[in-house]
Amino acid sequence: MNIDRKAVTNFLSVFAFAGLLFVLTGGQAVGEEEYDEETYGPQAPIIFTAPVKAVIFTHKTHTMDAGLECDSCHDEVFQMESGVAEQNDDFTMQSLYDGKYCGACHDGQTAFASNTRCTVCHIGVKGFDRMQGGGAKADSHGGH
Ligand code: HEC
Ligand code: HEC
Ligand code: HEC
Repeated sequence: MNIDRKAVTNFLSVFAFAGLLFVLTGGQAVGEEEYDEETYGPQAPIIFTAPVKAVIFTHKTHTMDAGLECDSCHDEVFQMESGVAEQNDDFTMQSLYDGKYCGACHDGQTAFASNTRCTVCHIGVKGFDRMQGGGAKADSHGGH
């Protein structure tokens, strides 16, 4: 057999170069885009606990994943401060159905309708406890 040594060497150096690139870029070339709070909003989920416990909102799914701009929510639909909407008496499903708050988009057109997929938004009391890293609190019923 007549193996071309030069070709083999070139072939291997391509791998070496790819490996070097990988090291230089911190291996991010193949990884998922890193979450940047400046660009996509706070990373920690926002959990509403009133009037019912608990509803989850994550900036990531709306900005990074769905591609929405900050001003599609701030400050017309929501203030840039958690805990504000919860203080309003009209933070209810009826308002959502009327196109307010989350219902501005969750109307079955821009995003899935507010009268469907309840548990995608509602994580419930158990979900809330889990988010707090607990679930084993003394006051929680129905534990295992
Ligand atoms: C789909 C709607 C939506 C979009 C888009 C959105 N936000 Fe928010 N944001 C919210 C909601 C809901 C809250 C909580 C408001 C409340 O509790 O009254 C919030 C709260 C915040 C807060 C306060 C967090 C805290 O803990 O007090 C910051 C800061 C914020 N958003 C930044 C951003 C930035 C920056 C962008 C764009 C990159 C953005 N948001 C895009 C819905 C959105
Ligand atoms: C500016 C428009 C807009 C507003 C306001 C908005 N959403 Fe969304 N939401 C979207 C879009 C777009 C998607 C992705 C498409 C879809 O799932 O239908 C989405 C997806 C979601 C999802 C699914 C995420 C997943 O993991 O699949 C949840 C949960 C959600 N929204 C909750 C909320 C809650 C709670 C509020 C109010 C606090 C809210 N959204 C307000 C546009 C919006
Ligand atoms: C797009 C997200 C979303 C979806 C989908 C959703 N909800 Fe809600 N829901 C909320 C938000 C936000 C609140 C107000 C915050 C809170 O109570 O924690 C709320 C509040 C409520 C409340 C208390 C206020 C009221 O209107 O009486 C009930 C009950 C409720 N939801 C039931 C449901 C049921 C049943 C479904 C499915 C048919 C559903 N929700 C689907 C987001 C959603």
